[in-house]
Amino acid sequence: EQSEKDSMLVVTNYASQYYTDQLWNSEDGKSIGLSYFKERGFREETIKKFELGYSHDQWDGFTKNAIEKGYKTEFLTKTGLSIERDNANENSEKKFFDRFRGRVMFPIHNVAGRVTAFGARILKADKTQAKYLNSIESVIYHKSKILYGLFQAKQAIRKEEECLLVEGYTDVISLHQSGVENVVASSGTSLTEDQIKLVKRYTPNITILYDGDAAGLKASLRGVDLILQQDMNVSIVVFPQGEDPDSYVQKIGPTAFKDYIKSNKKDFISFKTEISLKEIGNDPIKRAEVIKDIVESISKVPDAIKRSVFFRECSKLLEIDEQILISEYNKKAIQKG
Ligand code: CTP
Ligand code: MN
Ligand code: MN
Ligand code: MN
Ligand code: MN
Repeated sequence: EQSEKDSMLVVTNYASQYYTDQLWNSEDGKSIGLSYFKERGFREETIKKFELGYSHDQWDGFTKNAIEKGYKTEFLTKTGLSIERDNANENSEKKFFDRFRGRVMFPIHNVAGRVTAFGARILKADKTQAKYLNSIESVIYHKSKILYGLFQAKQAIRKEEECLLVEGYTDVISLHQSGVENVVASSGTSLTEDQIKLVKRYTPNITILYDGDAAGLKASLRGVDLILQQDMNVSIVVFPQGEDPDSYVQKIGPTAFKDYIKSNKKDFISFKTEISLKEIGNDPIKRAEVIKDIVESISKVPDAIKRSVFFRECSKLLEIDEQILISEYNKKAIQKG
């Protein structure tokens, strides 16, 4: 007997096929969905590789098709692909409608390569709608436990001994298209411990490539501490204001982009120091705050040898006696018990 999870996966994988088929073979799919991707600079091979799709701007296009094909409404609703109308009576024909309508579809694969969920983007800016609508949480999809692109990236991550971490679906896709394949997205800015542990199966090295805006910077700072806590190594690349990895690689091209990453990759101490030094100026109080903040991050590192290397680096960069940093750390360690 099939488990509930299996039945749900059968439905999500059928849906993915359906949305892909609509993208390539229906009139609207081609003129609206496919053109959208092409205007964003995605090549056909890339669109195929990520199994991108299109959902029609119709009430129940997918649901109707799936029911006709024999898929049970129980699993259509459990996966969140279809929604049951509260006001429909038993005999009503349109008892269910589609969650995703008039959007381009990004299927989200688990590590084994099965589609468990979707991210769906509106085509034009529209303040009344969320830019991305995602699948609902379910037994087959926990947003906080999945990394978009991991299935496509895992071999490259092992080979490069590094995982690049971006915010969005389109960042992952653009980087692949540019020959950078060791990349996954946290799908938003709130990276979780579970997501970091997923990466840890493949490499201890993460490089954060978040968007060049206030939210991206804030999320990078938070990500640094979370990654250090997992006893992993973290580097950060900051992009020019208003750029994200997708927009930037499309703007400057793959070669210049790779050079940019190489020459702008910072370890976390340089990263924190540099963004703070801009504010510090000659203010000794602010300077002290920055130092305390960096000591706080270093204290997250479980490994004592790594910690001592970081204290040395911090002492050099901020021109402060290493012993003072260490005693500040010890003070904290005692407080924490
Ligand atoms: N996201 C989301 N819901 C939103 C906005 C964002 O789930 N309403 C997630 C998506 O996974 C998105 C990521 O957060 O890819 C990063 O958001 P953002 O930087 O705003 O979008 P981009 O990935 O840059 O998407 P695009 O280039 O298509 O605008
Ligand atoms: Mn597939
Ligand atoms: Mn963003
Ligand atoms: Mn972005
Ligand atoms: Mn973007």
